[in-house]
Parts: sequence; structure tokens; C-alpha cells
Amino acid sequence: MATIDTLDLKGKRVLVRVDFNVPLNEALEITDDSRMQAHLPTIEAVITAGGMPILMSHLGRPKNGAEDKFSLINLVSHLEKISGRQVEFVDNCIGEDAVKASKSIKEGSILLLENLRFYKQEAAGDRAFAEKLALNGDVYINDAFGTAHRAHASTAIIAEFFEGRKAFGKVLQSEIENVNKVLIDGKNPITAIVGGAKVSSKISILENLLKRVDNLIIGGGMAYTFIKANGGSIGNSLVEDDYLSMAIDVLAKAKELGVEVFLPADSIIADSFSNEANTKTVASHEIPDGWMGLDAGPQAVASVKEVLLASKTILWNGPMGVFEMEKFAQGTKAVAEFIAEATSGGAFSLIGGGDSVAAIKKFNLADQVSYVSTGGGAMLEFLEGKTLPGVKAITG
Ligand code: 3PG
Ligand code: MG
Repeated sequence: MATIDTLDLKGKRVLVRVDFNVPLNEALEITDDSRMQAHLPTIEAVITAGGMPILMSHLGRPKNGAEDKFSLINLVSHLEKISGRQVEFVDNCIGEDAVKASKSIKEGSILLLENLRFYKQEAAGDRAFAEKLALNGDVYINDAFGTAHRAHASTAIIAEFFEGRKAFGKVLQSEIENVNKVLIDGKNPITAIVGGAKVSSKISILENLLKRVDNLIIGGGMAYTFIKANGGSIGNSLVEDDYLSMAIDVLAKAKELGVEVFLPADSIIADSFSNEANTKTVASHEIPDGWMGLDAGPQAVASVKEVLLASKTILWNGPMGVFEMEKFAQGTKAVAEFIAEATSGGAFSLIGGGDSVAAIKKFNLADQVSYVSTGGGAMLEFLEGKTLPGVKAITG
């Protein structure tokens, strides 16, 4: 694997594609800087190796060119603070000013270019635009795992202008290595927990994981499509009727492959989608009309405890209930705690996908699991077994 250590960076302008797509509030303050923090080791490694880091990123989804609220200038002071480095900013990512800034950057400083998506050509994967971007660096490093599923100019197309002078940064390298610790080198028993609202967005992941895991825990809103497919009454719970037969296929395939599937035996049900709703605990296949399952029940939680604690490898993607609401957070919280406990007993655990990452952070357990992914959509596609364009551009 071409990594940062395999390139000679001394005296070079090192063009690094980062994913600084961080959430900002109305006052344009960063509400979660994890993605910025994640790139610091790559930036430091570039500087330590004698290179000049020139960072490029997108922020948000600007529709019509430049917009103040999507400007990367909003990140400059925070980047200075967390990196302890001087950060220069140039209000363009291509053209004379950008190239000039890249050539005059002082040793030990960081140059940040303006939002790549202020140009439509970025998302279009435009080759001429990628070529202009390439003028900002002597070598290219892709560290933007969160955007690696996009075949954009800066994440994929640009790589062809750096033959023999391109590599993965530390984030992208560790995302790949950690997913491989589950999907390729996972020690048995391997347990995947797949939750979230929609089966439709997880079906490819389920199909891919079935070939690799020993246990599959299905939870969250998507579980009710499975329960209905099995003949259960699910009241007003979330369901995707178009996916009932696929759910049956997944269960049949699991049986054929000897994968043990856990569906929630019981649920916390509610008479409205609200933290103020009336609730009760019932069997998941006996949910009355007018009620919906919003969390795993105590039996469901108890039944996965043992299997998680006995697992050597755990992958978690998607919450077990509507954990954002206090009343329906128990199932997700318990799973997070079991994963932390299994990890302290020696299991390898990977938390991948937006909502489960948010959950593990909410329960303050992010530092008690083995690896928390920085990618949302990219992690989903990775777990589906797809080759990500941003990865392929480096590996060839
Ligand atoms: C993300 O947050 O999902 C990545 O930064 C990619 O952004 P995008 O979904 O707008 O392409
Ligand atoms: Mg996205």
C-alpha cells in the first residue's frame, strides 16, 4: 500500500485531500471537529518529513459557486488552534493565487485552499479542473476517507497527474486497515450489528456481511420489516413493504451459511413518535395497531449480551432504536456498553456509519472501542464490498 512513509516529501509541496466537511451551527462555529482532528497526524507527518502541507477539502454542498457559509475560511482559526501551526488561507483552490501561495508557503506552516465545491467541476470529476488542482502540489496524498466514495476531481481524477507520486494519508490508510481487520482478517466469532431505520439502505451491507460473520444482530426500525416478513404484527412500526421478500432471502441465506440472526424478541413501543409518547414493552411480533416499535426491549438486549461478550470481532453499523430520544435510547446504549466491555476483554471493535458513531460519542464510549470510522456514506459503501473511487485512484 502506498502510504505517506513511502514517498519522499522533503522540500515538496504536498497536496493533501482532507475531509474537513464538519458540521457548523448558525453562528458558523464547528459543532464536532472530529474530522479535523483525525487529519492532524497526516499533517504532522508531512511537516516532519520536510514537506509543505497544502490542504484541500469540500465543506457542505454549495449549489451555485462561492457562499460565505461554506467557505473554508471558517475553519482557519480552529485549525491553527488544534494543529499549533500557522495556517495560511487562499480564497481559491485553483489558479494563479493558489499556485503562488503553494509555492511561497513557509516551512512548518499549513496552506488551506478554498472549498473545492465552489466549482461544479469538482463533483463532475472534470479532468481539466483536476489538472489545475494538481498544479498546487508536487505530490498528492488522499486522506479524505469520508469522501472516498465520490469519483470527484480532487478525490479520484487528480491522481492520474501524480503517477508514482501519490499515496494514502494516515486516515485513509487506517480506515482501510481497520475495515480489513473485520472483513478480511476478522477473528471468529465475528458479530455484526446492523441497525437504523431503513432496510433499503442496508440490504447490500447485509448481503456482503453474511458471507463473513458468525452472528448478525438486526435492530432499529429496519428490524420490523424482518419481523413482518416472518409473519409478525408490527402495528404502525416502520416498514418497507417492497423489501419483505428480500428480508426473507437474507434470513434464508443466513440459515444456509450458518449465520445466527438475532431479531429483537421484544420492543419498547410508543403511541407516537415522540419522547412524550406513552410507552410499553411487548413482543416485537405482537405490536398493536396505533403503536410503533422505537427501541429494543429488555429481552432483546439480554439476548445479544452474551453473543457480543463472546465475540472476538465486532462491527457496529446503525442504532438499535431512536436513541436521540431519551425514552428510546436504552437498546442502543446497552449495545454500546457491551461492545466496550467486549473490547476491554480483547475483542476488536469497529464502529462505522454516521448514526452509530453519533451514538457511541453520545454515550461517551468512543475511546473504549477499537476504532471509530470518520466516514458515513463512504463506510457504508466500503462495508457493501464496493471499491471506493478514492481508494482505487491510489492503488490503481
Ligand atoms: C460526508 O460528509 O458524507 C462526506 O464529507 C461527503 O460529503 P457528500 O455526501 O456531500 O459528498
Ligand atoms: Mg454524505
